[in-house]
Amino acid sequence: MKLFLAPIQGMTIACYRNAFARHFGSIDAYYAPFIGLSETKKISNLLLKDLLPERNDSSINVVPQLLGNDGVLFKNLAYAISAMGYNEINWNIGCPYPMVTGRKRGAGILPYPDMIKKFLDTACSDNSYKVSIKMRLGLKDPEEGLHVMEVLNEYPLCGVIVHARTGEQMYTGQVDLDAFKTLATSCKHEITYNGDISTYDNYLHINSCLPTVKNIMLGRGALSDPFLPSRIKGHNIPSEDKISIIRDFHDDIFNYYQTQLSGDKHLSDKMKELWDYLQVHICMDKRLLKKIKKCHNSSQYTELVNQLFDSAVWIE
Ligand SMILES: Cc1cc2nc3c(=O)[nH]c(=O)nc-3n(C[C@H](O)[C@H](O)[C@H](O)COP(=O)(O)O)c2cc1C
Repeated sequence: MKLFLAPIQGMTIACYRNAFARHFGSIDAYYAPFIGLSETKKISNLLLKDLLPERNDSSINVVPQLLGNDGVLFKNLAYAISAMGYNEINWNIGCPYPMVTGRKRGAGILPYPDMIKKFLDTACSDNSYKVSIKMRLGLKDPEEGLHVMEVLNEYPLCGVIVHARTGEQMYTGQVDLDAFKTLATSCKHEITYNGDISTYDNYLHINSCLPTVKNIMLGRGALSDPFLPSRIKGHNIPSEDKISIIRDFHDDIFNYYQTQLSGDKHLSDKMKELWDYLQVHICMDKRLLKKIKKCHNSSQYTELVNQLFDSAVWIE
């Protein structure tokens, strides 16, 4: 089983990916959050900062992701990124936000297979990189994904990742395993399942429902339980060691943001996002967590976090 870490905008940036690899590992590729294609944006170090070699541990496999519907812009940016040493570039046709879909980008392009074909004609015409796709079952209806797959099958893609929801479902409601199975059966490329694997039991369930699927992408589940990938790969970390590993991971992220963000408010807002995930498996004094989430002062934050970790217990 190959495991991929899902891109989560604002969270799984380079420092997070590096720290995740260092403390938890068991991920075969880390998909970076999308970079939007735009005519006006110059290809600069600022645009590509999350992918710069100096920010990314060279021992981990990172896949950059682009979002947009213009094949020429994709090709130009993908070429520039490939020159930085990346050989797979992922195209995001799964983003469900109305501001994106309304412009026929992300999942908004799924009802238009002809646009996808036109895009891929250009995007796949450069041999300096390989293209993979991250998609949803459809925008409104899984039938849409089947028409898209007929188009995808005509191109030399290096993989198709499917989040088993429609765009309209956003991130809620049930994943549709039957629709995923139908889509996976029609796909000629290496397929990856994504969606709602948040526990080892969820993983076992998906594995038994989809026995032919050999690649899995983990998102929110791995952010809440970063030990999940290693458990899936058969390495069991003793529960009593987990809090101290999470603490080291947290400290790496905190130290990074402390050097990057100006002002304690930005820093604490960022750390709050991390806690939204980490709190799931940590049994703690909830009053401390509340104080951490309200705190706008970094030395007070550190004190509260130390108190929390000193008394916390990992819950499987
Ligand atoms: C806050 C947030 C940001 C996300 N950002 C991206 C992104 O940049 N690119 C992308 O392809 N998917 C993005 N996703 C979707 C995830 O990669 C993943 O497909 C989705 O969360 C379902 O998997 P999960 O249930 O394992 O989390 C995002 C999801 C969330 C919740």
